Amino acid sequence: MYENLFKAISIGTLQIKNRGVMPAMVTNFCNSDGSVSDRFVAYHEARAKGGVGLIIVEAAYVNRGGKGFANQIGIDNDALIPGLKRLTAKVHRHGAKIALQLYHGGRQANTQDSGTEVVAPSAIPCPVIQAMPHPLSVEEIKDIEKEFADAAERAKEGGFDAVELHGAHGYLLNEFLSPNSNRRMDKYGGTLENRRRFPLEIVDAVRLRVGEDFPVIYRISSEEFLTDGLTIVDTSDFCKALVEHGVAAINVSGGSYASGKIISGPDDILGVYVDNASIIKETIQNKVPVMVANRIKTPEFADDIIGRGKADMVATGRALICDADFYHKAKTGHRDEIRGCLSCNHCMSALMSGICISCKYNPLTGHESEYDLALPTLTRKKIMVVGGGPGGMEAAFIGAVKNHAVTLYEKTDRLGGNLLAGTKSPYKSEMIEVVEYLSTMLKKNRIPINFNTEVTMEHILREAPDLVILAMGSSPTIPKIPGIGYDHVVLAEDVLLGRKVVGKNVVIIGGGSVGIETAELLNAQDKDVVVIEMGKDILSDLSPTLKTSLASRISQTRIQILVDQKVIKVRKRSVVMKKERIKNMDSVVVAVGYHSNNGLIKELEKINIPFSVIGDAVNPRNIFDAVKEGFQATYGI
Ligand SMILES: Cc1cc2nc3c(=O)[nH]c(=O)nc-3n(C[C@H](O)[C@H](O)[C@H](O)COP(=O)(O)O)c2cc1C
Ligand code: SF4
Repeated sequence: MYENLFKAISIGTLQIKNRGVMPAMVTNFCNSDGSVSDRFVAYHEARAKGGVGLIIVEAAYVNRGGKGFANQIGIDNDALIPGLKRLTAKVHRHGAKIALQLYHGGRQANTQDSGTEVVAPSAIPCPVIQAMPHPLSVEEIKDIEKEFADAAERAKEGGFDAVELHGAHGYLLNEFLSPNSNRRMDKYGGTLENRRRFPLEIVDAVRLRVGEDFPVIYRISSEEFLTDGLTIVDTSDFCKALVEHGVAAINVSGGSYASGKIISGPDDILGVYVDNASIIKETIQNKVPVMVANRIKTPEFADDIIGRGKADMVATGRALICDADFYHKAKTGHRDEIRGCLSCNHCMSALMSGICISCKYNPLTGHESEYDLALPTLTRKKIMVVGGGPGGMEAAFIGAVKNHAVTLYEKTDRLGGNLLAGTKSPYKSEMIEVVEYLSTMLKKNRIPINFNTEVTMEHILREAPDLVILAMGSSPTIPKIPGIGYDHVVLAEDVLLGRKVVGKNVVIIGGGSVGIETAELLNAQDKDVVVIEMGKDILSDLSPTLKTSLASRISQTRIQILVDQKVIKVRKRSVVMKKERIKNMDSVVVAVGYHSNNGLIKELEKINIPFSVIGDAVNPRNIFDAVKEGFQATYGI
């Protein structure tokens, strides 16, 4: 099974047991001085144990002014080396190899910590960060080159098997190479040869310092997607120079802060950069291994990329945030137990909000040292889980794994709760993997599920459980507006699930994510849609990162958005707001939010059966909260 994926490979002198790579991904798990924390070590050890061949540890700043995130790893001083040794030893114990990515954030850095200016080849700000950079002098360029070499030496001393130079994603090395950000007139700018000089001098300095036998990998944005930015023609040619300068492997990625496209979402194709990797592989005549990342989510696809010779190694980043055991499960015939990444970018938006990464539906991510699922409970309990949405499913699954006697009750004939409607809008279909994964785990753990069962107090008293988990979710709220009872007024949930059909001209009341995603679905069905939001802005329930990507998609459609408008009346053919009205309308869709289903709480409070309430039944939120609370409800009891 997956014989291409599990074939050994060498990067220079480094032998790697398979083709699977965990690419660099900042976690924010380190200490604020850049030293590794126990949490950081445990996170990486779990992935090494889970079978990946090579871990490339997150971008490590070579000087503090080049730092991007508050709790990112550092490699700017010798005091960090003992921690690095601890990390590399733990990873090596499981037969995985480990490299460190060396980076300088350039104009995309966050200099809050250092109090310095951001730096760049030229005084052109990154359109996202917007800070005006200080253009580096030649002397400063030389200092940074030395800092990269010092950092590489520390990495080697710290037990790493290789280093990767971060030449991608719009950071400093990329900025020098790109005509979009490098407008210098000296020997580091202008011609192609001059723009290549800084990254190539870093390659040379690093190689000289670490020696012939220590592999240096280079990560490149194969395309920048900017009007005057780098194209695959430029970058594949640059890769030839990298190989001539002794780079031992190329890691193909794409994009920058300015263009996005660093981390694809569900609206991108799978394997976004696979074809570019293939072009680079051909251009460098297969002289060194080429690896590629981005939306390679399954072992089948990973195996196929290698089998077809498109790349030599696959970097499965978020797939490994989502499931540390991805490779082990694939190799040992447990493919169906892989918790598949949704490309939802919850992890990335956490990082961009300045907090630690987490996975939307894997509560273990980042908590590897706190939980041990292999340890069964000493006090087996009888647990009734009421509600088969993601939170209830997770609670039942973890309860059973810990050896409790769990029964799950679901009032409909399907598992998934409100998530089922959420998977129906464009680009959300991959969310169904949450339900599929948890259903598989319920089945494998032989958890009895009572469908079409509305649990009552009589039921609970008859069963006399030791614990009841109330995971009854939430229901759509119907606003008290005159005319809301008309037949042409329907719930967003019913539209998404195909239970109700709407006419050509549709008004959606509510511009949160449900309203906007419903609008997107109807727009795709060629309806004319107006969304009315009473707040100042739409999508206020999403993080800034997720909001930006959905809002930019919506801005390219015919959907009309009205904000700061309150609907006061619905008529047969019109919707009346305070200041205006929309006429000739066929249907109204209600998407004003949800309210908790907490029916049993009051009654349970009166009797002596312990219970806990999780997920939307506490307060309507998202899958992340529901699954996390489901996990916690049964893990530690
Ligand atoms: C939370 C997070 C942090 C990341 N940090 C880095 C980084 O430090 N260096 C880097 O080169 N890429 C970084 N990336 C990009 C990933 O390495 C990878 O290219 C991207 O996630 C696409 O691959 P995937 O679809 O397999 O996740 C990060 C991605 C995520 C999700
Ligand atoms: S948060 Fe979403 S994108 Fe990130 S690893 Fe988890 S499922 Fe994948």
